[in-house]
Amino acid sequence: MSWIWDSLPVVLNRANSTNPQLTFFKFIEMKNISVIGSGTMGNGIAHLFAQQGFEVALVDLSPDQLQKGMATIAKNMDRQISKGTLTETDKAASLHRITSYTSLADGVKEADLVVEAATEKIEIKLDLFRQLDLLTPAKAVLASNTSSISITQIAAVTQRPSQVIGMHFMNPVPVMKLVEVIRGYTTSEETTRQIMSLSSQLEKVPVEVKDYPGFVANRILMPMINEAMYTLYEGVTGVSEIDTVMKLGMAHPMGPLQLADFIGLDVCLSILNVLHEGFGNPKYAPCPLLINMVAAGFKGVKSGEGFYCYPAGTKDYPVSTRFSK
Ligand SMILES: NC(=O)c1ccc[n+]([C@@H]2O[C@H](COP(=O)([O-])OP(=O)(O)OC[C@H]3O[C@@H](n4cnc5c(N)ncnc54)[C@H](O)[C@@H]3O)[C@@H](O)[C@H]2O)c1
Repeated sequence: MSWIWDSLPVVLNRANSTNPQLTFFKFIEMKNISVIGSGTMGNGIAHLFAQQGFEVALVDLSPDQLQKGMATIAKNMDRQISKGTLTETDKAASLHRITSYTSLADGVKEADLVVEAATEKIEIKLDLFRQLDLLTPAKAVLASNTSSISITQIAAVTQRPSQVIGMHFMNPVPVMKLVEVIRGYTTSEETTRQIMSLSSQLEKVPVEVKDYPGFVANRILMPMINEAMYTLYEGVTGVSEIDTVMKLGMAHPMGPLQLADFIGLDVCLSILNVLHEGFGNPKYAPCPLLINMVAAGFKGVKSGEGFYCYPAGTKDYPVSTRFSK
């Protein structure tokens, strides 16, 4: 079971805090988790919490997406069973702990924590957080899994900015160990400690970072991906050559162009735009090739073609003929 910090000053020493005046909090139990969005990340986050024994409300506007999300969770649990890391009994119990909702009000009314993983659009996030502030219990913590949108800006549309935080899981959520915990300008010490502690209880490794464009993960990853695209755009070499250099030369498990296809080229473009606008530094300007590909609907895996082609039913991904020599 997991615990939430209460702001009441009950004496309890915390070895990992740097400020002794903020080391005293009371715990209350956190058990109901609402996950908003049942796409790639939302279903992974619901899977993780349910497997760790939490009651999960999975919310999506689209009944189809909810159905797909639940099917993906069951399929991914089957994969864990075949690897011997989950039993049939645990799978059934975990799935039983997830209830799906199309109504936001019903899905969040008992939440101790909301993890928002809806589409990466600022107007969607701001609207959702305005509603979440009205629909959830006053003590609930509101977290966003956003890759690039300012947590401070999201927090500012609520009446509880100290309880708003970034909880940036990596894809695929049940497998990847990192949670980037983003502390907005107004996020409290209590909320930060609570989410760091909860992330550890989920058997993840949390890293606390401040709220600046791209946080840490994407601020470092996206310029590398963008540079790989410029290298291709300038004709230095081809798609598989660039990816091979980074795989064999730097021991990256996947080349940057293929990784961009998996993340989604539209997502890469929007993160680079956030970095470019946020820092006002031309080094983050997205490669014109990326801009063209997204405008033409070539978004990588999700659209079936990016730098590589992704034919259904096979894991053999050839380089797109647009880039063959
Ligand atoms: N895909 C990744 O690799 C990745 C990694 C880390 C973080 N993220 C972040 O996670 C979030 C979700 O990304 P994703 O890739 O899962 O997106 P996705 O497109 O796969 O899923 C988004 C889901 O949100 C739903 N949705 C949209 N508006 C909604 C609303 N108002 N209420 C309820 N549901 C709503 C959509 O129906 C869809 O099912 C984004 O903020 C993204 O930046 C993505």
